[in-house]
Amino acid sequence: MTSHPITPSLRSAIAPFIAMDVMAAAAEQERAGGSVIHMEVGEPGAPAPAAARDAAIAALAAGRIGYTEALGRASLRARIARYYEETYQVEVPASRIVITTGSSAGFLLSFLALFDAGARVAISAPGYPAYRNILDALGLTCVTISTDASTRHVVTARMIEEVHAQEKLSGVLLMSPANPTGTMMSREALREICETCDRLGIAFISDEIYHGLTYEETAQTALAFSQSAIIVNSFSKYFCMTGWRIGWLVVPEELVRPVERLQQSLAISVPYLSQVAAEAVFDSLVELQAVKASYARNRAYLMQHLPQIGLGSFHPVDGAFYVYVDIAHLTDDASSFCKRLLKEAGVAATPGLDFDRGRGAHFMRLSFAGREEDIVEGVRRMAVWLGAIKMP
Ligand SMILES: Cc1ncc(COP(=O)(O)O)c(C=O)c1O
Repeated sequence: MTSHPITPSLRSAIAPFIAMDVMAAAAEQERAGGSVIHMEVGEPGAPAPAAARDAAIAALAAGRIGYTEALGRASLRARIARYYEETYQVEVPASRIVITTGSSAGFLLSFLALFDAGARVAISAPGYPAYRNILDALGLTCVTISTDASTRHVVTARMIEEVHAQEKLSGVLLMSPANPTGTMMSREALREICETCDRLGIAFISDEIYHGLTYEETAQTALAFSQSAIIVNSFSKYFCMTGWRIGWLVVPEELVRPVERLQQSLAISVPYLSQVAAEAVFDSLVELQAVKASYARNRAYLMQHLPQIGLGSFHPVDGAFYVYVDIAHLTDDASSFCKRLLKEAGVAATPGLDFDRGRGAHFMRLSFAGREEDIVEGVRRMAVWLGAIKMP
């Protein structure tokens, strides 16, 4: 048997997705017999609704699980089109909807379909880590727009215009509600971003994965304001189907065929079973509202109790299921802090560096997507630990 040294590609030298590394460390601690409260990843504690699971069971029993068309099953695409009508009163033809293996694949497909190597794409900091990592892996230039409390931690049309004036942007990718901050932009702010991007010829990608999970105002889709916006969405969060790895894109007509060609060769198609289950999940909106009500209770619990345990400084939680907590008074090294929190207190949380390479050392993100009893226990463990620790 022979071998030679393998050198990984430069493009693979992307940053780790730290939340996933924390999840792996937590799993190892559990395998070694430890007890861990999971507040590190945005993963619903509730299973996929019964209708989705029943549909998958029936499909399994029926036998053949095959490929589907690369763009996805026609009936699922039509159902999603109807969902836009029901939810946002926006008409979108099913022909513009593409089923993807989670929104993660939606980013890959949309970036490949829209941008050539070197193109400049703006994202926010703090922001979702995989955006930068996927852009980096594809040889695109990631332009970071830092947000702060003066704009409620959201990127504005004006910021986009200023960055574009310095050096041309090819794209902007934003989310509302946002991860890790939980903050949302107003409808008017979203409209301005859509109009600005259309006027400047910048591709606007709107990650709407946390739609449905808002606590004050409902979120509007960018499709209401622009026919050119690219929408990324998923069954992972509101629909509680993380492990089914299914999401969708809404793309302008011109991108349908390019995305179809990419999907044909990158994935062939999205798993059939997941597509069948996803179609049925739209019959479970009442069940999903009950899950959302449990997030609202978790949110209220944290809002009340985090200040009592010395974690009282966090961004406004308008939506999603995260609290982005300022821990500058406790540490200037959130990574070590979170490692200790996991090891010594059995609470998994994600250090802010995952989301913001500049300021993240002073933050940690707590997910409250888990079960209510786990959130209460997580706070109890943090209270005991914070009462006892001496950070260097
Ligand atoms: C903002 C945002 N977009 C996309 C994703 C990826 O989700 P999925 O690939 O499961 O659809 C996540 C996951 O946490 C997220 O927070």
